[in-house]
Amino acid sequence: PRVAFVLGTRPEIIKLSPLVRACHRREIPHTVVHTGQHYSESLDTVFFEQLELPAPDHNLAVGSGTHSEQTAEMILGIAEILSDEQPTDVIVQGDTNSALAGAIAASKQSTALGHVEAGLRSFDREMPEEINRILADHVADSLFAPTDEAARLLEAEGIDADRITVTGNTIVDAVSQNLELATRKSTVLEEYDLEPDEFYLLTAHREENVDDPDRFAGILGGVGEFARRTDRTVLYPIHPRARENLAAFDLSVPPSVRLVDPLGFLDFLVLESSARLVITDSGGVQEETCILQTPCLTVRDTTERPETVDVGANRLVGTEPSTILAGADEMVSRDGSWSNPFGDGTAGERILDSLL
Ligand code: UD1
Ligand code: UDP
Repeated sequence: PRVAFVLGTRPEIIKLSPLVRACHRREIPHTVVHTGQHYSESLDTVFFEQLELPAPDHNLAVGSGTHSEQTAEMILGIAEILSDEQPTDVIVQGDTNSALAGAIAASKQSTALGHVEAGLRSFDREMPEEINRILADHVADSLFAPTDEAARLLEAEGIDADRITVTGNTIVDAVSQNLELATRKSTVLEEYDLEPDEFYLLTAHREENVDDPDRFAGILGGVGEFARRTDRTVLYPIHPRARENLAAFDLSVPPSVRLVDPLGFLDFLVLESSARLVITDSGGVQEETCILQTPCLTVRDTTERPETVDVGANRLVGTEPSTILAGADEMVSRDGSWSNPFGDGTAGERILDSLL
């Protein structure tokens, strides 16, 4: 085979890194097409460096824009590369506009499409990610579902079981390949003067939260108040979308919440594993906290990662301060004795085996 990976954002770089590295190791011909959806150093190149990935073979430099502009421009750029290079397989990951564009371009070019992290559903069609993942799943030829539950949801939508393989999630591979290095190399706790188990970690960047002033203020207020009451600080590595909206809406940040620039993967892994509690609207962070045995509160109304809630690692609390406070009270003292539902860290190898 000749594999073309299409990726464009922070979580795709992280979650495809085990596959790209495995292709390299196994000498499987491959090319990496970066759409340029993420381009800031802190959301992009830092991950190529830390995850020891070669620079992408192509960068479409699509940048930011409306969903339609971004997706359309990506499809055109990817199609041209596919037509020049004629790969046998296109691989996309997750639910971003980059993943959707790769899926559509592959299908128009009649190139086999593999979708990594198939079968996740929040059942909230207001979220752009939900539409992206449904479309990518339905055009994919090979669907790599992280869990049995995800495979079941795909079959319930009429997707042929022959096309679905349960592989675990490649985030387990990425965490297990980098945690030891992170613990050895990162000085993030010293840098921010944090004691393990004595601080909280927040990430919030989803459109439905940070583009809505009430929801964004609810998250900051609830998390800030919990930190004040328990006399701890919250570290918030803030995504540029959220940073811009904070200013645009003129929201005030509680004194217990400390904003810092987005961090590299190694520092972020150390923070996730040392935090007393993590509060997030991220998909990847819900999984990583579950894997790293740190309790998590998800400030959303739905999750496409229900396995994390089922095992007791995560709770959905919405964005009202009162429900955040009640959820935090319950989760803060939970011990991390649950089992990891996302596989054994060999998802990347399983996906490649199934492609070959
Ligand atoms: C995208 C994904 C989201 C994912 C997130 C990962 C879609 C629809 N959304 O959201 O599912 O959780 O990536 O982080 O694909 N910006 C920068 N620098 C960058 C990139 C963006 O400053 O490198 C700013 C720009 O102001 C831009 C805004 O962030 O308008 C949003 O970027 P965009 O790529 O549209 O979506 P994300 O919020 O990053
Ligand atoms: N992450 C990181 N630095 C940060 C915040 C997040 O390295 O400052 C990593 C995190 O470990 C996870 C991924 O980014 O693997 C999650 O990406 P994000 O939350 O942007 O997107 P989502 O998973 O919600 O699509």
